[in-house]
Amino acid sequence: MRLVLLGPPGAGKGTQGVLLAERYGIPQISTGDILRDHVQRGTRLGIQARSYMDRGEYVPDGVVVSMVMDRLEEPDADHGFILDGFPRTVAQAEALERALEETEEPLTAVLKFSVGGELAVRRLLGRYTCPTCGRTYHMEFKPPAEDEVCDVCGSTLERRADDDELTARRRLAVYREQASPLERFYAERDLLHQIDAEALPDEVVDRTMGVLEALP
Ligand code: AP5
Repeated sequence: MRLVLLGPPGAGKGTQGVLLAERYGIPQISTGDILRDHVQRGTRLGIQARSYMDRGEYVPDGVVVSMVMDRLEEPDADHGFILDGFPRTVAQAEALERALEETEEPLTAVLKFSVGGELAVRRLLGRYTCPTCGRTYHMEFKPPAEDEVCDVCGSTLERRADDDELTARRRLAVYREQASPLERFYAERDLLHQIDAEALPDEVVDRTMGVLEALP
């Protein structure tokens, strides 16, 4: 299974990616997570990426493409992968297509999770993440048992630097600028499947499984 997850910030790509990765035993590769790891470690790539991420803008294609190509060469991606947040531009999609042509292992499907803008903002503003184990919570939709404490490892939960309202809305606007050509790219290849993601996570997984099980 080689999947791409598309959708606006807050659509639930990360949430669905984790659940699908567990179900299929393949890695979820989140470009946002990889970039945040570089930022936290203060690598050259992280320093370069940070200014874009803090503004809610996309990191330049060249940086992201080579980062993903390196990640896809790791052995755990040999039997499939779930790309969460990549590609986001047609240039990234073309680079991925060329790389997969070389291995003769094309994408299985591209899943686009759809949510309205105001619900997406509500999801982003309420999100908390565990800095230790990476689990994601939501103050309204998936609260931890104890306020701002991870249920699993007990760490203090954090908010993402780009989840303030101004940056969240900028991220949504940037997404809207790039989304149509990217979706057209995959629709022309008969790979694009749209999933209504305005439901609880388990219901969205069921909808996703319905799409995947119906694939030829
Ligand atoms: P990234 O980290 O990928 O952020 P994003 O695309 O903005 O998406 P999010 O992670 O915010 O949302 P999500 O859809 O994963 O939602 P989640 O499941 O967490 O990228 C960050 C930045 O990195 C970008 O802005 C850019 O600068 C850079 N970048 C990354 N990739 C790049 C690329 N390819 N090219 C260039 N730049 C790149 O859910 C959100 C919240 O809602 C959570 O609290 C969750 O618990 C809750 N929730 C999820 N699903 C549901 C549901 N069904 N019902 C109720 N609550 C739900």
